[in-house]
Amino acid sequence: MNTPLTGRTSHTQPPLLPIRTARLLLRDFLSSDLQAVEALAAHPRVREQAPFESRALLVARRAAHTKVARRPSRDRKSYELAVIHRKSHKLIGACDIARVGRHSADLGYMLLPRHWGYGYGTEVAKAMIQFGFETMKLKHITAIVATDNEGSRRVLMKAGLMWQGLVRRALRVGSRHWDCHQYTIDRARWQSQATQTRAKKR
Ligand SMILES: CC(C)(COP(=O)(O)OP(=O)(O)OC[C@H]1O[C@@H](n2cnc3c(N)ncnc32)[C@H](O)[C@@H]1OP(=O)(O)O)[C@@H](O)C(=O)NCCC(=O)NCCS
Repeated sequence: MNTPLTGRTSHTQPPLLPIRTARLLLRDFLSSDLQAVEALAAHPRVREQAPFESRALLVARRAAHTKVARRPSRDRKSYELAVIHRKSHKLIGACDIARVGRHSADLGYMLLPRHWGYGYGTEVAKAMIQFGFETMKLKHITAIVATDNEGSRRVLMKAGLMWQGLVRRALRVGSRHWDCHQYTIDRARWQSQATQTRAKKR
């Protein structure tokens, strides 16, 4: 005889965060992360490629000063997350996805230079894009990259984004202007790529 079910069926949704990838964990910032994030954002090699103020850094600062963890609610306008190396438990980077309209969001990421070149940037971008389409229910994700940032351009292309155009003097830091490439992916393209990837794995 089957044992009758007791209690209520749970309708609780699975937790949004952390996001787990093969080697990384993406989670909200903790107050204890601040020093590592400040060092990351101030690193000369990171500043050279991403000279603008990082949203992740602003949020990490807020997390450190409020001491109250952000609720991982589904209707947040943006997610700024620490990139944690699962094996060493160390913070190796930061990333963010922020709504710029009801159905669109902008993607950003940065890693400590000693972790460049191991595929982590692509791993972060793919995970954030999946999160954006599946959890935030976005229709478009965009990213903007300084023209000489070849590493980031490669990351975006490997994550499936398409080049949309060149925006002259898109960013200004102090008196210097930066020309930037704009990249984009829409939900349909992402879904068809995800289907192809699953088919290849079978
Ligand atoms: C951009 C960044 C996240 C890339 O991270 P990463 O972990 O090195 O990226 P990946 O290892 O996934 O590399 C993806 C591809 O780019 C290539 N690449 C990485 N850095 C490169 C560089 N400086 N020049 C040319 N190609 C580069 C890799 O060889 C790889 O190509 P392949 O797989 O075809 O061989 C990292 O360089 C970074 O944090 N830069 C500073 C912050 C920044 O620029 N953020 C983006 C702002 S838009």
